Amino acid sequence: MDANATVFTSTLASIKYGAANVPPQLEYVVDTIAQASAWQLVLTLFAVLVAYDQFRYVWQKGSIVGPAWKMPFIGPFLQSVNPKFEEYHAKWLSGPLSCVSVFHKFVVIASTRDMARKVFNSPAFVKPCVVDVAHKLLGADNWVFLDGKAHVEYRKGLNGLFTRKALEIYLPGQEAIYNRYFEKWLQESKEAGKPVAWMPNFREIITAVSCRTFVGHYISEEAVKKIADDYWLITAALELVNFPIILPFTKTYYGKKAADMVLAEFSKCAAKSKVRMAAGGEITCITDAWVKNMLDSEAWREAEKKGEIPEGMEKPNPLVRVFSDYEIAQTVFTFLFASQDATSSAATWLFQTMAQRPEILDRVRDENLKVRNGDIHAAVTLEQLESMTYSRAVVRELLRYRPPVLMTPYQAKKAFPISEDYTVPKGAMVIATTYMALRDPEVYKNPDEFDPERYYSGDAEEKGAKNFLVFGTGPHYCIGQHYAQLNLVLMLGKASLLMDWKHHPTPLSEEIEVFATIFPKDHCPLTFEKRQW
Ligand code: HEM
Repeated sequence: MDANATVFTSTLASIKYGAANVPPQLEYVVDTIAQASAWQLVLTLFAVLVAYDQFRYVWQKGSIVGPAWKMPFIGPFLQSVNPKFEEYHAKWLSGPLSCVSVFHKFVVIASTRDMARKVFNSPAFVKPCVVDVAHKLLGADNWVFLDGKAHVEYRKGLNGLFTRKALEIYLPGQEAIYNRYFEKWLQESKEAGKPVAWMPNFREIITAVSCRTFVGHYISEEAVKKIADDYWLITAALELVNFPIILPFTKTYYGKKAADMVLAEFSKCAAKSKVRMAAGGEITCITDAWVKNMLDSEAWREAEKKGEIPEGMEKPNPLVRVFSDYEIAQTVFTFLFASQDATSSAATWLFQTMAQRPEILDRVRDENLKVRNGDIHAAVTLEQLESMTYSRAVVRELLRYRPPVLMTPYQAKKAFPISEDYTVPKGAMVIATTYMALRDPEVYKNPDEFDPERYYSGDAEEKGAKNFLVFGTGPHYCIGQHYAQLNLVLMLGKASLLMDWKHHPTPLSEEIEVFATIFPKDHCPLTFEKRQW
């Protein structure tokens, strides 16, 4: 017999259960279990788990607003599968901090400007978490999941791709896409002969312009079309909570297939760019700019190793390592992932909102004509784009009025004291909300009205400096925000010169559908005609 066994045997242990050493006080419990049927055991276990789930929820909820109890285990899962703007809105109105618990996930919603900013600006406590399936779609080793110093370092290597100098290089490609697609739109609208829900066309044109900016001419038109067609499968897979494994023929399955296709296309583009840039090609897109930075960094390192820096050789800033084709594809995919839905949403609302306000669109048109010296086909420089203060005010106001990204999810890396009274538990999801800050009546007079004047002649920019959370803030703020806004200015300006369009309102036109970002529920019925001057 094991010597320790005697040492640790309680004097109270019963002889009835022999080697099990059951104290007499527990005999009743053990007897009951021994005599219970399998069903009774299962039901008891279930009841214990339900009680634990409730207790954990109530404990995590603490003092903040939220349902008094949760639907056992699943919580409001069914609502999260088909999210309604009105339900989110009610939640934001319910308090600065509120909560829900879906399955095992405890979610804290930070609604006010200050609470949202606290989330964005607390990298010591939180990290971006996207949704579970994003790791599977983008690759768990993707840079967007990096945190702290590793994230800062990686991002430094990408900043050069979004400087003014870089944005200027991408402009001709954007112009070319808009010229081609607007022709196509005129044709399609004429052939349809009736209003058509234009949202899918906005999604397609934004995919095309993004692909041109990101991977230039390395991608074929067919591949762009395929990405545009399949991209919504990726968006559809991004539910707040997914089943932990990807089952065949589910949304996540199709989303993963589409993501793999995009990654394979972008990997091919990276390989082609490497060959062309090594042969001294000009930069035409983001991939080229990044590859050139890699080649220059390599050349610098070799020269340094040899101890001979040729005259005129400049040290690349930043010095970057050489990335594999797949790594480049992964990063370029994050740009598409981050921009596709948000920019399509903004473009859809922009065209709808402008069609409803012809006097504003006329002012945009006038400004665009003037900057092009009366030539509707003239290409614009970055400086000219930036000089169009009224058009920029329109885009800025549109983004305030219809912010594409309503919520940005983060995850608490450790207990996060978000307010004096409440600490977000470790592991919880904590969501920074943009909407309430952008509709704050103290900062924006008549916040529910679309009024570009507030950015043109008013003080919304300064007064709302802390409220404009459309692109986030803190270490993860949107890297593409200047590109995104100028791209929308370009798109609207060119459209205003080349086309007239009409919106055909329905009762659903101002209702908001949440599909990762936001869209009018009727998907924006429009007709287009060539503009006669
Ligand atoms: C209207 C269009 C866009 C909107 C509303 C938007 C909004 C946002 C928001 C809210 C975030 C999260 C920021 C945070 O957590 O603080 C974000 C991050 C990001 N955005 Fe955008 N975005 C847009 C377009 C773009 C474009 C065009 C690109 C790329 C070309 C881009 C690339 C990114 C990336 C890479 C991140 C993650 C940055 C990081 O984690 O360091 N976005 N964006």
